[in-house]
Amino acid sequence: MENMKLNVENAFVCKELHMSMSAIKGYEQQVKEAQEMLHKGTGLGNDFLGWLTLPSSITEKFMDEIIAAAKVLREKCDYVVVAGIGGSYLGARAVIEALSNSFAPYIKSSKNPTILYAGNSISEDYLAELSSFLSRKQFGIINISKSGTTTETALAFRILKTQLEEQVGKDEARQRIIAVTDAAKGALRTLATKEGYKTFVIPDNIGGRFSVLTPVGLLPIAVAGFDIKKLVAGAASMEKLTAEDVPFSKNPSAIYAATRNELYQKGKKIEILVNYNPKLHYIAEWWKQLYGESEGKDLKGIFPAAVDFSTDLHSMGQWIQEGERSIFETVISIARPSKKIQVPMDAENLDGLNFVGGKNVDYVNKQAELGVIIAHTDGGVPNLHINLPSLNEFYIGQLFYFFEKACGISGYLLGVNPFNQPGVEAYKKNMFALLGKPGYEEATKAMNARLGR
Ligand code: PA5
Repeated sequence: MENMKLNVENAFVCKELHMSMSAIKGYEQQVKEAQEMLHKGTGLGNDFLGWLTLPSSITEKFMDEIIAAAKVLREKCDYVVVAGIGGSYLGARAVIEALSNSFAPYIKSSKNPTILYAGNSISEDYLAELSSFLSRKQFGIINISKSGTTTETALAFRILKTQLEEQVGKDEARQRIIAVTDAAKGALRTLATKEGYKTFVIPDNIGGRFSVLTPVGLLPIAVAGFDIKKLVAGAASMEKLTAEDVPFSKNPSAIYAATRNELYQKGKKIEILVNYNPKLHYIAEWWKQLYGESEGKDLKGIFPAAVDFSTDLHSMGQWIQEGERSIFETVISIARPSKKIQVPMDAENLDGLNFVGGKNVDYVNKQAELGVIIAHTDGGVPNLHINLPSLNEFYIGQLFYFFEKACGISGYLLGVNPFNQPGVEAYKKNMFALLGKPGYEEATKAMNARLGR
């Protein structure tokens, strides 16, 4: 069985950084301590460590329950709207977009419902267009919110629930709505109980950005027709490959965490996650949340950014090659594409492309990737490289757990609590004050005074 592989050799080729594998090995003791803090639960945020053993502890029976609930929506609905934001939708979307045919929404014979998304912005245009699109369509809703009180999600759900009830009646709507939320707390739990929706629980000890292998991610992924058991199996295999007793030099999460922390110490404040296949775009969105929310605090943390290559080589490529030297990049490369297409030979060769005639498109892509790595490392951009044997549920599961484990270690190396996100409350407080939410009366007064209104 092949596994996802990490190669950090190209982090050392930028001579001015004076980095070497021995500098990375210097982190062995610190990483060991970070691992111990995770596994013994002695570090900051230790009430949010449920994700650590999630892949190996989730049961077949539980996954079958999720698959059964997904079947109901698959049978009744042509469209299923996932209402959620941040950790409550990015993981599901990452898998669904990575594994779906790029033209799935236009393929009429598709046996899978199309997954749509809502509640991840407050755009009136988006919601009005979605609502109009869904009129007279057979649709259902998965409403996902751990707190059960997130404004973006609740607002979208209220609009869609009202529409669904009008279109199919309250009883049928009840069969087409599933809520994923806290076991007891929050407005969504209250609403789901009152309305009699099927529900799944987000465990207390798993934060949003670490929840993709709970029903938060697994239910929408199963509804979309993908194999959640393979996804979990991939994550479980990575749980073993990154376990506490795996030697430092063989543990990819340990090496990744140590290398990016060493780069950060050397002034590389921005990490760009790079893909060469647009299907990975939302994997990068998921990763940005994972690292941004986990590490960006106490005035510290690498800024996680992402680009799709070769697309963005024609926009951001200039900055990456010659802009401020504060970046490093982590490439996710897929060894074997799932489909094949060749560049045809052309007798006239008017476009001058016969030098790649007869080659597979992926061969051209791989030469672009190699050329970019050489250009970027020559230009002072250290490169970390993740190789996925192919793009399927198993390897995405490996990738998810690899990044999660590395994130826990990396956050502890940085000296922050990787499992809280106090900073996201600041905008909410202001927004609620401005909207006059009950309970925010004093803040509303202060805000009005500040804005002179
Ligand atoms: O990682 C997190 O905790 C957040 O990004 C949440 O996932 C996001 O804010 C959504 O929260 P909730 O699931 O409570 O609606």
